[in-house]
Amino acid sequence: MKIHTIFSRVGVDELYFTSRTTVVIDVLRASTTILAALTNKAREIIPVDSFEFAIKVSGSAFSGQTLLGGERNSKKVDGFLLGNSPLEYSEEIVKGKSIILYTSNGSKAIVKARYSKNLFICSFNNIESIANRLVELNNDFTILCAGANKQFSLEDAVCAGNLILLMKQKSSLLKFSDASKAAMVLYGNYKKDIENMLRNACHGKELIDLGFEEDIRFASRINSCFTIPYFKKGVLKSLAI
Ligand code: MLT
Repeated sequence: MKIHTIFSRVGVDELYFTSRTTVVIDVLRASTTILAALTNKAREIIPVDSFEFAIKVSGSAFSGQTLLGGERNSKKVDGFLLGNSPLEYSEEIVKGKSIILYTSNGSKAIVKARYSKNLFICSFNNIESIANRLVELNNDFTILCAGANKQFSLEDAVCAGNLILLMKQKSSLLKFSDASKAAMVLYGNYKKDIENMLRNACHGKELIDLGFEEDIRFASRINSCFTIPYFKKGVLKSLAI
């Protein structure tokens, strides 16, 4: 089994993902928010890659059952009910709802990887469940880090390294791309204090400045849920385990 890692969605063509198994990571905060929503019994998440498309899809949806969520420059978009903080996606608000999600990097990375044969969403919150699923599948796979501001982000790379090292503990005969090896080294460097790593990453600092410090704590919880978001026919649902 070979593990590939891509550190930014920019520069990789969507056709690369055709028939692959892909894991998208956007720790701050799209992956973490998707997990919170599905864990709190949202019916599904519809990731979109443009604001215009978000508005179009919401216009054709059943009123009341569909919520618009996401961010621009980390702030809630005017006219959207929800921003991109996982804390907003409580059971009270999302249970049974379809959520159209538009974010600066995370939802765009998911849409880019939509032709994958298997497409999962990972953050520190569900990392062990994702590793177990990948071991069961026993396929080569690619980790696509959403990055921040179209560039490399430390938190996604460290999370990728954590996932790869977990795979290494669970499976033999693995092969690693150079980027996967680099991700493991980064995880080794930061593993002692993931919350501190998130606080000091560029996007973590931006979120703290904007008042989202609680999101950093939330995102740093390792294995706080077992939810496996799985993409099929344009929507993310929780895979039954
Ligand atoms: C993204 O997609 O870039 C993020 O989730 C941004 C954020 O929520 O701050």
